[in-house]
Amino acid sequence: MSRLPAPRLLLSAMLVCGLAACSGGDSAPTKEPPPIIKERQANFKAIGGAFKAVRGELESDAPDFALIAAKANDINARAQQIPNHFPALTSTEDDYDTEALPAIWKKPEEFKAAAAKLADESAKLATLAGGGDKEAVGAQAMAMGGACKGCHDQFRFDDEKK
Ligand code: HEC
Repeated sequence: MSRLPAPRLLLSAMLVCGLAACSGGDSAPTKEPPPIIKERQANFKAIGGAFKAVRGELESDAPDFALIAAKANDINARAQQIPNHFPALTSTEDDYDTEALPAIWKKPEEFKAAAAKLADESAKLATLAGGGDKEAVGAQAMAMGGACKGCHDQFRFDDEKK
């Protein structure tokens, strides 16, 4: 025997749908992102911050190589997390506020390799920073930047020209 919906539930559904998130219209609805999307974006934000700190040191006449090494190690640890942050159905095609292109799931091996490349380049940067040769460290920071770009070009949606 089927039950009639409780009026209380109907009312709360109406209240919820009064909010912008439920309104129809032409613009693509954006769902509340699951924690994993926020986590990976926070991870990339931190990677970006660490890389910026490295570049900032390299602009100085007397770079703090210990700081560069620490930031490179931080990037290295974060790079190893990247492959764990992309469960199925969390791409730009799934209505979330994310820049993760479907290519990530179409070419999983390439994506993993791109993350591994960042891990390699950041490890090299940490090692070189220990040596304190500014020119060599600068060149390796550039190489690491290439690993960012290499992945972004293939796997990150960007509506701005870079
Ligand atoms: C293996 C691929 C990959 C590598 C390597 C990579 N990124 Fe990304 N990055 C992405 C993807 C995919 C996104 C979009 C994530 C999302 O929106 O869910 C992203 C997003 C970002 C963001 C935006 C985060 C936000 O939402 O606020 C920054 C900043 C960023 N990356 C910086 C970097 C830097 C700096 C490096 C190199 C040191 C780097 N990334 C290396 C794939 C990569």
